[in-house]
Amino acid sequence: MPLTDKFGRAITDLRISITDRCNYKCVYCRTGNEGALYGDLPFADYLRMARVLVGMGVTKIRLTGGEPLLRKGVVEFVRELAKLNAPNGNGRGDPLDIALTTNGHLLADLAQPLKNAGLTRVTVSMDAVDPDRFARITRVPNGYDHVLAGIRAARRAGLWPLKVNCVLMRGFNEDQIIPFGMFAREEGVTVRFIEFMPLEEGRTWSPDTVVTLDEILARMGEYRPLVEIPRGRSETARRYRFDDGVGEIGIIAPVSHPFCGHCSRIRITSDGKIRTCLFSVWDHDLHAQMRRGASDDELAEFIREVVQKKEERHHIGEADFVPASRTMVHIGG
Ligand code: GTP
Ligand code: 5AD
Repeated sequence: MPLTDKFGRAITDLRISITDRCNYKCVYCRTGNEGALYGDLPFADYLRMARVLVGMGVTKIRLTGGEPLLRKGVVEFVRELAKLNAPNGNGRGDPLDIALTTNGHLLADLAQPLKNAGLTRVTVSMDAVDPDRFARITRVPNGYDHVLAGIRAARRAGLWPLKVNCVLMRGFNEDQIIPFGMFAREEGVTVRFIEFMPLEEGRTWSPDTVVTLDEILARMGEYRPLVEIPRGRSETARRYRFDDGVGEIGIIAPVSHPFCGHCSRIRITSDGKIRTCLFSVWDHDLHAQMRRGASDDELAEFIREVVQKKEERHHIGEADFVPASRTMVHIGG
């Protein structure tokens, strides 16, 4: 029986954070003071969780962090995950989409090995196309060249479709909208702008800091007309092509246009807890079940019960909003 929550949403998309360490200190995410808080688990533990969930209908696995490429052994882990594709890996033999979200700093050397191991595609976070601005946002010198090299290496390796995520935050990078439109066209990547959500360590979010979908469309329209193109039902991004067919951009608008009604996602944190929503105020300790010796069937039963508790929607900007129990760097996006 497919994994479904009490609102009838099928859970097919698993995100595993394999470390909550990060080598960047992006201003909209981290205060710069806190490092890893929760630690991580041996890969074998995540692999078992993934195997059980694939057996329950998950078809897409995204590895996140912190920064997942900081973790030694990530290539081997991808190789093991890719084996879940095989009929005996999960008993089904369905195609499995294995993706990774990274800041790209260490990607140049890892793109080809990851592809060879069975990774399908990567999403690179990048919030400015100007090296100085990039350094000011990430608070790391010389990161821009590494990330650009990482993006190009991923494209050469055939990690496709290749997406670049740009979180827009008023006062920091809203002037990067048109430069990113040019970047999408020149580099042949899909650039996705993300509305800033209240998930940062510094608690600086306010409605005014959000650069909205409407604003992004208006600004990009000054550069070139956009045409909306169809998207998948549970896809986070609205998709657009430029009128001449060259270049694609996306807009992820969880604040101005929430997409919770079509959510297909479940998350496992680096310390082995299930989060049913980015904005959950508690999580569910799957790893504790493993430590007490639960069988795969018992893990599946635990997961089914947890999924029934998946929140209907987030409450960003509403009077009853309660901050999530973890900030983004400890969830993984
Ligand atoms: P695809 O697999 O390519 O569709 O990527 P994705 O959109 O699932 O994953 P990605 O990691 O690129 O997510 C993009 C961003 O969308 C995340 O970093 C979050 O900012 C936002 N996002 C993803 N999932 C959710 C969600 O469930 N709720 C909200 N509010 N935002 C989300
Ligand atoms: N709001 C929206 N997106 C965010 N990300 C990190 N913090 C936030 C936030 N507060 C993005 C990162 C990365 C992904 C993991 O989540 O830029 O692309």
